[in-house]
Amino acid sequence: MSGNYVQLMFRVLSGSKCSVSIILWILAGFLLLLHFFSLVSHKDGTSGEIELHISHNPSFRELVEVEEENIQIPPPRGKRSPRAAKRRPKRTTTLIDEFLDENSQLRHVFFPDMKTAIDPMKDNGNDSFYYYPGRIWLDTEGAPIQAHGGGILYDERSRTYFWYGEYKDGPTYHAHKKAAARVDIIGVGCYSSKDMWTWKNEGIVLAAEETNETHDLYKLNVLERPKVIYNDRTGKYVMWMHIDDCNYTKAAVGVAISDYPTGPFDYLYSKRPHGFDSRDMTIFKDDDGVAYLVYSSEDNSELHIGPLTSDYLDVSNVVRRILVGQHREAPALFKHLGTYYMVTSGCTGWAPNEALVHAAESIMGPWEDMGNPCIGGNKVFRLTTFFAQSTYVIPLAGLPGLYIFMADRWNPADLRESRYIWLPLIVRGPADRPLEYNFGFPLWSRVSIYWHKKWRLPSRWSG
Ligand code: GAL
Repeated sequence: MSGNYVQLMFRVLSGSKCSVSIILWILAGFLLLLHFFSLVSHKDGTSGEIELHISHNPSFRELVEVEEENIQIPPPRGKRSPRAAKRRPKRTTTLIDEFLDENSQLRHVFFPDMKTAIDPMKDNGNDSFYYYPGRIWLDTEGAPIQAHGGGILYDERSRTYFWYGEYKDGPTYHAHKKAAARVDIIGVGCYSSKDMWTWKNEGIVLAAEETNETHDLYKLNVLERPKVIYNDRTGKYVMWMHIDDCNYTKAAVGVAISDYPTGPFDYLYSKRPHGFDSRDMTIFKDDDGVAYLVYSSEDNSELHIGPLTSDYLDVSNVVRRILVGQHREAPALFKHLGTYYMVTSGCTGWAPNEALVHAAESIMGPWEDMGNPCIGGNKVFRLTTFFAQSTYVIPLAGLPGLYIFMADRWNPADLRESRYIWLPLIVRGPADRPLEYNFGFPLWSRVSIYWHKKWRLPSRWSG
């Protein structure tokens, strides 16, 4: 039957002059449609499974509930900090002004004090395992966790999570009038946990250099955003970090190595990767064991991405420029069902701004913008990434589609008082804007970060 139809079609078309090209066009169109349908149904199928998983699990349902925030701005008291007054002299105050004003009456909303600290060691009853974004978080010895701009390593060998970050428990000051607020380098803090809620201080695993002024880690320099990955081939733990001078003109990456996740790490060297300036950065280890360095470059106007050498101790000579001209920083990468996603922030120093998600089929690009992932809170919350800046996204074994978004709520008046914003990040449902490379087809799932005053991981998650 169908053979007859084809013969008939051929006979009809062979009458016309442009028969061959018409057939080719029809065929091409048919194949294109087939391709799109298979892609869309593939993506729908997998995200459908996850959606089922999410909507059937009561604790998952709580994670995607949209929680609103209604914060009343108090009438002005007349006494604002000189810096805040200078910033916005004649305008009604907004929530962001209140956030930036260290004397604001709302300070406790953004930086709640010790009375509300999360203390996993006390009897928490029904409150166990709850994350309270923004509250002080105590380690197992009762001291506030110091691991800012951090990242998590899951160590298969010890089946333990390690949280590395900037240990900033020192005085905040300005190196000179125009310089950004800073704390001298103390080192990289490391905390270990089995449940990602109870954290034991493992000490400073890479310490500042106190006397040698020519050393990268000399205390008056800058060490930010340390990240650690494990090299399966060499059996070494490798740390990459942003290394700079106090004016951020060195713009380099540093590399350190250890036999153990708890260090001590030996500092190896710093360099400008691929010969370019490098400020905010991260590293990402792919499923095939290839690791990548991602860094803000060309004065933060674009990001660069390139694979590391197989020992993870250097960059290779392959590099791509991505998000060119977009001025993004604080990159945090993760992979879901073969697609790469990255959360970034804008470049406004310690002040918060709007997060964006980007996605790519190949890690080397092209990367496409998928918009702001933040859901809930209120408009200002969403436009400021909940008053925080991305630093890492933690995958959760056994819970496809659910991740923890890790961000820093910086307190430039006293950087050691900066807080951690951990929130559920969920990949599901169609993206909410057409994507350039797919003729408007939303091939990728939406990435959503849900605001919660308190939340916990599904209880069956064993850690
Ligand atoms: C931010 C950056 C932070 C830190 C800060 C200093 O833009 O993300 O890691 O470098 O600037 O002002």
